Amino acid sequence: MKTPVEIVVTGAAGQISYSLLFRLAAGELLGPDQPIVLRLLEITPALGMLDGVLMELYDCAYPLLHKIVVTDNPREAFSGVDYAFLVGAKPRKQGMLRSDLLQQNAEIFAVQGRILNEVANRKVKVLITGNPANTNALIAIKNAPDLEPDCFAAMTMLDHTRAISQLALKCGLATTCIKNVTVWGNHSCTQYPDLHHAKVNGIDALSLVDNSWFLNEFIPTVQYRGTEVIKARGQSSAASAANAAIVHMRKIIEGTDPGDWVSMAVASDGSYGIAEGLVYSFPVTVKEGRVNIVKGLDLNEFSLHRLKLNEQELKEERDAIKHLL
Ligand code: NAD
Ligand code: LMR
Repeated sequence: MKTPVEIVVTGAAGQISYSLLFRLAAGELLGPDQPIVLRLLEITPALGMLDGVLMELYDCAYPLLHKIVVTDNPREAFSGVDYAFLVGAKPRKQGMLRSDLLQQNAEIFAVQGRILNEVANRKVKVLITGNPANTNALIAIKNAPDLEPDCFAAMTMLDHTRAISQLALKCGLATTCIKNVTVWGNHSCTQYPDLHHAKVNGIDALSLVDNSWFLNEFIPTVQYRGTEVIKARGQSSAASAANAAIVHMRKIIEGTDPGDWVSMAVASDGSYGIAEGLVYSFPVTVKEGRVNIVKGLDLNEFSLHRLKLNEQELKEERDAIKHLL
């Protein structure tokens, strides 16, 4: 038998995890011949609820699920982990901005960054989903000085798949026809879903749709999709978020498709003039586990302005939690 891979999921009794855990256990991340250990972290009051999830996981008799560890102790949860899905955090409710969660959730990522730094596999891949995801990732990175910053990313894959899907629907084509979509910046309503380099079956996307659809429908639909889901469901997106988390980690493991890229929020290296260190969503390719920001894309004034707005917003978030950095 192959050595089991250790995967931790925080917020394991929450709604995203209720989809994510079952897909991980079914082998959707690492394939049909890779056993896994699932390490489930929750806060103490949620352990009762997590018991129910645990029963259901066992009830599936998953062949690949070698072992399940349930704990309210982050040190135990993160011990030796290869992949970390940091989901556990408060979600926003209707009428809130994701940044309204900053003060409530920030401390979680300071603690978890410190403990990952101490006990995780040195090559751990960490995906921060809990909102506000970019700044939470920044906090985790700063609290984990012995891990490479590129072990960490914040999730903008849901925005990326939302953007692909909207363009595919508009063109009446399968999502597989769409390439080179980018979501820049913050996982907030300021994010910039950009089609200037996107291709539909190899043709420039913006030559196939009119500019007013791009500006007045596409951009706001992607920016406000999370808000609209909350309005409709009374709760924030869960199954689509779990899907995006798996897509993100699979891209890290398998690499991006030739000629295509995806969007991930990673520590800026100064590309496109974005302040170094800010966790900012860029177009990235992945090869042999390394995430590389796509360089040298031509950006017009409109795009540059949107990029700056996102940088400014992320600087303000960073200033609001500077005591944790
Ligand atoms: P949820 O409230 O259903 O579940 C969150 C779980 O986290 C709860 O069970 C809670 O007990 C647990 N938790 C809280 N603090 C914890 C801690 N310190 N350690 C471990 N667990 C802890 O929320 P959800 O719908 O699953 O969403 C989780 C987070 O993901 C929210 O912040 C939400 O806004 C965010 N989210 C992000 C994206 C994205 O695209 N980046 C998409 C959807 C949701
Ligand atoms: C989303 O984009 O669906 C999540 O970030 C949840 C939210 O608060 O919108």
